[in-house]
Amino acid sequence: ADNGLAITPPMGWMSWERFRCNTNCTLDPDHCISEKLIMEMADLMVMGGYRDAGYEYVAIDDCWMTHERDKYGRLQADPIRFPSGMKNLSDYIHSRGLKFGIYEDMGLMTCKGYPGSKFYLQMDADTFASWGVDMLKLDCCWAGNDMETGYEVMGFFLNRTGRPIMYSCSFPACQGKKNYILAETLCNTWRNYGDMNDDWDSIGKIIDYYGNDTEHFSKAAGPGHWNDPDELIIGDYGLSAAQEKTQFGMWAMMASPLFMSVDLRVIPKTSAKLLLNKRVIAINQDALGIQGTRIFKVGDLAGWTKPILPKGSYAIAVVNMGHYGEPLYFRRPLKDFGLSNPTGYNLTETFDGGQMGYFNISDQLTLNLEPTGIFLVTAIPY
Ligand code: DGJ
Repeated sequence: ADNGLAITPPMGWMSWERFRCNTNCTLDPDHCISEKLIMEMADLMVMGGYRDAGYEYVAIDDCWMTHERDKYGRLQADPIRFPSGMKNLSDYIHSRGLKFGIYEDMGLMTCKGYPGSKFYLQMDADTFASWGVDMLKLDCCWAGNDMETGYEVMGFFLNRTGRPIMYSCSFPACQGKKNYILAETLCNTWRNYGDMNDDWDSIGKIIDYYGNDTEHFSKAAGPGHWNDPDELIIGDYGLSAAQEKTQFGMWAMMASPLFMSVDLRVIPKTSAKLLLNKRVIAINQDALGIQGTRIFKVGDLAGWTKPILPKGSYAIAVVNMGHYGEPLYFRRPLKDFGLSNPTGYNLTETFDGGQMGYFNISDQLTLNLEPTGIFLVTAIPY
C-alpha cells in the first residue's frame, strides 16, 4: 500500500506463536493474553535494546476481546484481562516510543471464535483509530468467497480514519490462487503461507516455499509492501542455535517483516544477541527493498542472493536444508550466485562481522555446512 508506512519491512513483537489463545489469567496470570503481558513486553522491548535495534510494533493477536460487541456494536477488550482498556494500553505503549498493533478478522468470527469485522468494518476501523492503534492484522478465518472486497473496504475505512495504520493482510494465505496484485496495492504486509509453529519443520517448509517463488511472488515485495512468512520463533523452545541463525538470516534475505514471538522475560542471552545483530538487521532493512531469491538448489544445498546497497552489492546465503541430517561440503565460485563485477568483491561474514577479504568472481566459496545451518555473507564491489 502507498500509505507511507512500512518503507522497510516492519519490525516488532507479536503475541501469537508464543502465547496463542491463553485466556486463563486466573490460573496462568503470567502467560495469558492480558494488558499485563503486553506492558511487560513493551517494557522489555525498551530495556532489552530491541526498540533501539528497530523493533517497533507491539502487536496483540487473537483472543483479546469479549465474545459480545457492546450495545452500540463496538468491539470490547476483555475487561478482566484488560482492566485499563485499550486506549490506556495504547498510551502506555506510545509513551515508551513504541507502536500499538491489534488483531481482527475479516469474517464473521476470528479464528478462535471472537466477533469478526464482517458487517462492522467501518465501526471497527474507527474504534481502532480512537484507541490509537498503529497496525491492524486482519485475519481471514470465516471470511467467505468475497473476502477480497472485505479487505478493500477495510483498507478504505482505515485510510479514512486519517490515522496511519499499518495494514497486515492474510487473504493470500486463505486463497488458492493468491491475488498478489491486490495485496501489493492494498496492504503493507501479507501472509501467503500457513502458520509458524515452534519447530524447524515450519521454517524449512517456508524457506522452500519462498525459494520456489511460484509465479514470482517475490516481485510483489518492495518499499511499503512485503510478503510475510510469519513470526520469528527465536528464543522459544523448538530451534537449535544453528536453526535460530538460519531463521533470522533467511528472514533477512527474504525481506520479511521481523516480528518476534517470544517471552522476552526469559529469552536466552544468545537468542537475544542474535535478534539484535545489526548486520543481519541491515540486510533485512536494506533501502532497496528487494526480496532475495533462490539462485540454485542442489540436493539439500540452497544458494540465495539479495541485492543490497551500496549499488552492485549482494547478500548471499547458503543453507543446508537438513533433510538427511548430514553436514554438507560446498564449493562453488562467486559467479555461480550471479555475481559478475569484473574487478571482484569484498566479502564480510554477517553474523560475526569477520572480514573474508577480496574475492574475484572465479574464486571459490568453500564451506562445510551443518544440517539446517546457514552461511551468510555480504559482497561489496571492489
Ligand atoms: C491464523 C493466523 O494465521 C495466525 O497468525 C493467528 O493470527 C491465528 N489465526 C489467530 O487465531
